Amino acid sequence: MRHLVVLALLCLPICLAYPLAGAVKEDSNMDLVQQYLEKYYDLAKDVKQFVRRKDSSPMVRKIQEMQKFLGLEVTGKLDSNTLEVMRKPRCGVPDVGQFTTFPSSPKWRKTHLTYRIVNYTLDLPRDAVDAAIEKALKVWEEVTPLTFSRNKEGEADIMISFAVREHGDFFPFDGPGATVAHAYAPGPGINGDVHFDDDERWTEDKTGTNLFLVAAHELGHSLGLFHSANPEALMYPVYNPLTDLARFHLSQDDVNGIQSLYGPPPASPEEPVVPTEFIPPAPETPAMCDPDLSFDAVSTLRGEMLFFKGRYFWRRTPWNPKPEFHLISTFWPSLPSELDAAYEVESKDTVFLFKGDKFWATRGNEIQAGYPKGIHTLGFPPTVRKIDAAISDKGKKKTYFFIEDKYWRFDENSQSMEQGFPRLIADDFPGIKPKVDAVLQAFGFFYFFSGSSQFEFDPNAKMVKHILKSNSWLQC
Ligand SMILES: *[C@@H]1O[C@H](CO)[C@@H](O)[C@H](O)[C@H]1NC(C)=O
Ligand SMILES: [Zn+2]
Repeated sequence: MRHLVVLALLCLPICLAYPLAGAVKEDSNMDLVQQYLEKYYDLAKDVKQFVRRKDSSPMVRKIQEMQKFLGLEVTGKLDSNTLEVMRKPRCGVPDVGQFTTFPSSPKWRKTHLTYRIVNYTLDLPRDAVDAAIEKALKVWEEVTPLTFSRNKEGEADIMISFAVREHGDFFPFDGPGATVAHAYAPGPGINGDVHFDDDERWTEDKTGTNLFLVAAHELGHSLGLFHSANPEALMYPVYNPLTDLARFHLSQDDVNGIQSLYGPPPASPEEPVVPTEFIPPAPETPAMCDPDLSFDAVSTLRGEMLFFKGRYFWRRTPWNPKPEFHLISTFWPSLPSELDAAYEVESKDTVFLFKGDKFWATRGNEIQAGYPKGIHTLGFPPTVRKIDAAISDKGKKKTYFFIEDKYWRFDENSQSMEQGFPRLIADDFPGIKPKVDAVLQAFGFFYFFSGSSQFEFDPNAKMVKHILKSNSWLQC
């Protein structure tokens, strides 16, 4: 507790005194540097330090420490790269020292946490804020045994608010730019809480400060992570506007960090919740070259192929012969695992993903508004409870849904299920044995996946041309 108060009293007048109007450039650089190092690198706040005086001055050592942490060339001098990084928007939590009332590495002693969005920014509609926070929590939920639920009122473990300048915690925000948010490590009261600087322009895309990205970072602090010196990591302190939101995923560094506190997620949701003291073994991950490998669903996505299995998928890109392996949640945090079916409608740049009686439309990694929807909105009768496999024929603008031993056909132009269906798979796709796990269209063929076998079907000749292993696309 004493640590926080000391920091706070020293910080307060300095933060409010800046910026000094009319200061010459050199002086304002020095103010920037002094404040940056005081705020984030624990530079002593009492005496003014001058950089060029001697190499061993505390200021020079702090500059070196900062350069090392942020992956810059360690010169000890205020070169242009260093100043540039110091001017970038970043997290308000220091890179050294602890932004917490507890000196030891804090973590939650329970796996179910509550959060509350106390108030909102006017920059975004409320549901966009809710969605960004939900998606940011999901990022951590998917790689840990932690679960979150939202309280609409009263106390919650993680209280989330938007505020400007002085906002009651002795760490005032600083207007637009520089500090964009801060958060407190796990614990009672203010601990665990996240504050966003509402002088930033919060956006869903990257035209302003992206709320999801900052929220995911700050929630990392709420769960007990400190800053990472790895520039690839979400927990790197500087806001990275180049992050590809469509391909957002935690770095291994982030995953290792959070799993060192909480362990990996339980292997399946049906398993009892494990207490945090017990670190379970890593869940079984599917082996790409296992000859018995089968898939849940397969789809194309903007020229790539995605092979879904359990909580994971392999991504085969035309420019990389080695498939990438990812958690579904790192690309689509709100999607469930163990999908049933997936297909791309190229003309709409949309991939549709199915599980049970629900489906989602995604563009890149963005789930489209209004989803999930019920599969019956596509025109299926109530007897259909799930889809086994689906494919959208680009040329003919028809989408085929395979369910048990039958298939339905959906017209993408009229957006309706076609008359005369379902038909028997055996009648129109001779050689294809139900049930179908997944189907892919490539090179004019339909590739039907069934267990560990794959059938290359020629739709013109109406016959199976080749039988392959299901994982034949994965360079085994
Ligand atoms: C939101 O709540 C926080 C914490 O209670 C408070 O400091 C801040 O001023 C509030 N913001 C607005 C815009 O009311
Ligand atoms: Zn941070």
